[in-house]
Amino acid sequence: MEEKKQSGGLHFVGKKDELIKAKRSFRTLEGRDVLIIYHQGVFYAMDCYCYHAGGTLENGDIEDINGKLCIICPKHKYKITLAEGEGLYRGRNPQEKPPVFRWYSKGVKQRVHTVTEENGEVFVKLVMIPNWVDSDYYQGEKGKVERAKA
Ligand code: FES
Repeated sequence: MEEKKQSGGLHFVGKKDELIKAKRSFRTLEGRDVLIIYHQGVFYAMDCYCYHAGGTLENGDIEDINGKLCIICPKHKYKITLAEGEGLYRGRNPQEKPPVFRWYSKGVKQRVHTVTEENGEVFVKLVMIPNWVDSDYYQGEKGKVERAKA
């Protein structure tokens, strides 16, 4: 699809009904590969390649983990929240007696972008704050080369 740029950095990414039908849609916006997801009535957008080792998230399952919807990277099963791009992991605090497995956050690891709808059309605005998020690596030249080798 040809990319239509809108003022204010909004990119037209498709008709709402088409994106709903597709559920997962891949777009390249300003040279960045972005995955648009429609899940349970909500649109999400995030960098397409997993922050861990560049796995393609497009076919990842979506699960509710500890009350947060996460995409599960098909490559090594890392869990990434759809709304925030947080990396979640299960661990135990050895100082707790007895230690119990719980979900913890590694903080934001995957860059997520803003999705808006207007008159049946869907737009994505790339969010480039903060300056660095781990998933940025696989959008750059070095990361792309590394992904291709894996
Ligand atoms: Fe995604 Fe390793 S590349 S979990």
